[in-house]
Amino acid sequence: MSTPPSSLPGGSWTLGDQPVTRFGYGAMQLAGPWAMGPPADPDGARALLRDAVGLGITHIDTSDAYGPRFTNRLIREALHPYAASLRIVTKVGANRDAQGGWPTARQPDQLRRQIDDNLESLGLDVLDVVNLRLGDAEGPREESLAEPFEALVELQGQGLIRHLGVSNATAAQVAQAQAIAPIVCVQNMYNLAHRHDDELIDRLADNGVAYVPFFPLGGFNPLQSEALRKVASRHNTTTIAIALAWLLQRSPNVLLIAGTSSAAHLRENIAGTRISLTDQDLADLAACT
Ligand SMILES: NC(=O)c1ccc[n+]([C@@H]2O[C@H](COP(=O)([O-])OP(=O)(O)OC[C@H]3O[C@@H](n4cnc5c(N)ncnc54)[C@H](OP(=O)(O)O)[C@@H]3O)[C@@H](O)[C@H]2O)c1
Repeated sequence: MSTPPSSLPGGSWTLGDQPVTRFGYGAMQLAGPWAMGPPADPDGARALLRDAVGLGITHIDTSDAYGPRFTNRLIREALHPYAASLRIVTKVGANRDAQGGWPTARQPDQLRRQIDDNLESLGLDVLDVVNLRLGDAEGPREESLAEPFEALVELQGQGLIRHLGVSNATAAQVAQAQAIAPIVCVQNMYNLAHRHDDELIDRLADNGVAYVPFFPLGGFNPLQSEALRKVASRHNTTTIAIALAWLLQRSPNVLLIAGTSSAAHLRENIAGTRISLTDQDLADLAACT
């Protein structure tokens, strides 16, 4: 299927049958510090979401666990009825506790409830893409995903989900999911300083599956390195722009969902990410690992 041209850096990618801009938006931090609500500035958050779509972004990443519920509600309040081109990608597999923890919730009945909650809070009849979040807050864990993934495949069969993905997954879990049903994306932690998924990214690119790095800027621990500063200074730009441009240049199947609570930062990131990194830049940035 052909994809519409995008004026955003990186152009477009097709998630299953759904074209999206490779420059997307990660909505987690709109909920508040540590993704726990209520948000300090809901009007500002809604304005930012409208800005993101106004700037041409057609991929928003969210979860009903952000807030919990606040982020999805903000998205609905700001953007519903949704533009036909907008794809909202959500994830299930964890809830929130009162301390802000992320307890695992991957029993089939828990997943069903999370799908219903996402449909309700986003105001949708069908979810575009649902990622099954695996492992825990410490990272991926090598364990079978068969039971929870098959539960989502069943809900997909009931027409509640268009496409499936996995998150916080090992390469073996990605292969296990693909042996059960097609996936359109893998959302794992990856950035200039955490490149453990290099082989997986290349394999997914060969399969036409998107790789969506979470914490592309380091998340709660912002990326910092002398090499990054040196390359940013060479291009007269920010370290953030370099980190995002590097991801876009890494492989065509890499999609950006960098988070920001600032419309000015969003514009700055779009403008800054248009740069093309040279071989010398890439060699220098190898020192970030
Ligand atoms: N699947 C999973 O398990 C999982 C886990 C974590 C996150 N995620 C997804 O990944 C998305 C991205 O992760 P993230 O937002 O946590 O981390 P991130 O994108 O690595 O970093 C976001 C941080 O970067 C800052 N930032 C962005 N642009 C900036 C700029 N131009 N200047 C200065 N600071 C800037 C933001 O601060 P400001 O707000 O001040 O701009 C924010 O604190 C999330 O929104 C979420 O959708 C998924």
